[in-house]
Amino acid sequence: MELQVWKEILSPYELAVDELVLKLNHVIREHSEKGIYCPIEQVNGRVKSISSILAKANNKNIPIEDITKRIEDIAGIRIMCQFVEDISKVVEYLRSRSDMEIWSEVDYITKPKESGYRSYHMVIHYQVQTSFETKVIPVEIQIRTLAMNFWAVIEHSLQYKYQRNIPSHIRKRLMASAEAVLSLDNEMASIRDEILEAQTSFRKKASIVHDILETISNLSKVASSEEVISMQQEFFQLYNEGDMDILKSFSLKLDRMVKEYTN
Ligand code: GTP
Ligand code: MG
Repeated sequence: MELQVWKEILSPYELAVDELVLKLNHVIREHSEKGIYCPIEQVNGRVKSISSILAKANNKNIPIEDITKRIEDIAGIRIMCQFVEDISKVVEYLRSRSDMEIWSEVDYITKPKESGYRSYHMVIHYQVQTSFETKVIPVEIQIRTLAMNFWAVIEHSLQYKYQRNIPSHIRKRLMASAEAVLSLDNEMASIRDEILEAQTSFRKKASIVHDILETISNLSKVASSEEVISMQQEFFQLYNEGDMDILKSFSLKLDRMVKEYTN
């Protein structure tokens, strides 16, 4: 098939991946703006390369005209979560969305693959509108923790290096590291509350600092430069002392100054 024809075939897949990555990143942003925890930590997307599509078709004896019907992972999205329990929340969330239909699901977390691979897979049907057509595209979504992803990415590179015939001594070590990933995920789950508390206080501090800097920048339009410099100095000093309550009351003090200036 000519390159131009491939490009035309893959174009709606590219649109599907771009739209889904944008939408899921927006979910992360909405949570962050509200200062609430997001079960999605990171999102990646890709369209399978032409050579990988051809290799897969060849491996599975799929005739070229059946490729788009029978290969479901031409468009792929990967969602990374911090904790195992976030994965089911993401799955529920995706099931509840009205812009996709869940076509199939495979749970390789409760039932890992023989290789040691763990991940939750969904194939969704997702509608796109290009300039020329409206099309429903299958998209494979892999949902996993950061630790599961670390293992899968490395194992995948080794599969590539050894052309899917990983020597048994390396295979054994990969199985052992899959066990280590499992206990890492369990360990993180057990201290989840503590981790979340630390992240929440970090987010709160970041949000107060952001407010303070914005207020100082607004005040600099109306206050004298001496005043602005002294506000900045006070801020840096309080910031270094690191007490959140004092930073909060400094932020309120700045808000009162804004009010005085605008009255
Ligand atoms: P594929 O021909 O690979 O698509 O297999 P499949 O259609 O039977 O689906 P499966 O759910 O087994 O795998 C889909 C995708 O999951 C693969 O393309 C990989 O991205 C990932 N995957 C599945 N098994 C493994 C594994 O053992 N190691 C790694 N690293 N990734 C895997
Ligand atoms: Mg597949």
